Amino acid sequence: MIYSRITGTGGYLPEKVLTNKDLEKFVDTTDEWIVERTGIRQRHVAETQSACDLAEIAARRALEMAGKAPEDVDLIVLGTSTPDLVFPSTASLLQGRLGIKNGGAAFDVQAACSGFVFALSVADKFVKSGVSKCALVVGAETMTRLMDWNDRGTCVLFGDGAGAVLLEASEEAGILSTHLHTDGAYEHLLNVAGGISRNSEALLEGRAFLQMKGNEVFRMAVNTLGRIVDETLDANQMSKSDVDWLVPHQANIRIIQATAKKLDMPMERVVVTVADQGNTSAASIPLALDTAVRDGRIQRGEVLLLEAFGGGFTWGSALVKF
Ligand code: COA
Repeated sequence: MIYSRITGTGGYLPEKVLTNKDLEKFVDTTDEWIVERTGIRQRHVAETQSACDLAEIAARRALEMAGKAPEDVDLIVLGTSTPDLVFPSTASLLQGRLGIKNGGAAFDVQAACSGFVFALSVADKFVKSGVSKCALVVGAETMTRLMDWNDRGTCVLFGDGAGAVLLEASEEAGILSTHLHTDGAYEHLLNVAGGISRNSEALLEGRAFLQMKGNEVFRMAVNTLGRIVDETLDANQMSKSDVDWLVPHQANIRIIQATAKKLDMPMERVVVTVADQGNTSAASIPLALDTAVRDGRIQRGEVLLLEAFGGGFTWGSALVKF
């Protein structure tokens, strides 16, 4: 049996920081409201950098931790909703940037905030089937480019960044299982209503903004994430106490707390980055994972539950023996 194991993690946040106090200057909100309702205190903003720029730094850091060179990579799967271009894919651009010649496949996965878990699941299947031996899995976003800075219900929530992991074929258990779901009936609750083949004028006129009915999305997210925790543990015949760390998508501290409660998990065992980073969509889970690996909280051999919910609706989880 071949497994895929995470052998390196990397993350990158752009330099510019936008605090809640900064937001108070141009939108009708307060630091107190944002902290109390979301747990967010600041977010990073990519001023001139693209998703690929952020991804490259995160990817190089993951490779360095694993002791691998770019030419060892035979697959890149990148989750993003804010690609550099319509095409080539951001994964293709990243492959070129890393200088990989005659590489294997590189492609993007679009599953909004669940993008990293979807990308990880796809790459895991390539490795388990023997097609890939060394796969780079990335979440990279410039969400602030999609913000309507007059909409206080959304513009206070999101930030930019990138995270990456290197997956290598191994005889030792690594990714234990992944679980992906989509329910396409909820476009009206969370979308960016401007694209290429529909509403392209919104894109061209610079009003293709992220729109969300926050309250309804919140309720769906809490219920759905509660269910996927059970599904993941049942599939592995594990109980809640077998999980060492919850590494959740970072949208709102209250959603994270509700999922932790469902797992009977004290918040000390939950990796939380939302206060400093906001919601970085597909980048949030690999960024959180990288933070807790580098500061020594997450140790080899521990069991991690990764879970995400996002536009689509999409949701998913991965149970990982690190
Ligand atoms: N500052 C001050 N007031 C704000 C505000 C802000 N930034 N944003 C909204 N409000 C106001 C609303 O206008 C509303 O006022 P009203 O009662 O006078 O109409 C009030 O606060 C309550 O709004 P509501 O949307 O019900 O608040 P909430 O408690 O649901 O919190 C979110 C809003 C967006 C923080 C929350 O719903 C959320 O986090 N949703 C899910 C987000 C998410 O996970 N999205 C991505 C999925 S990946």
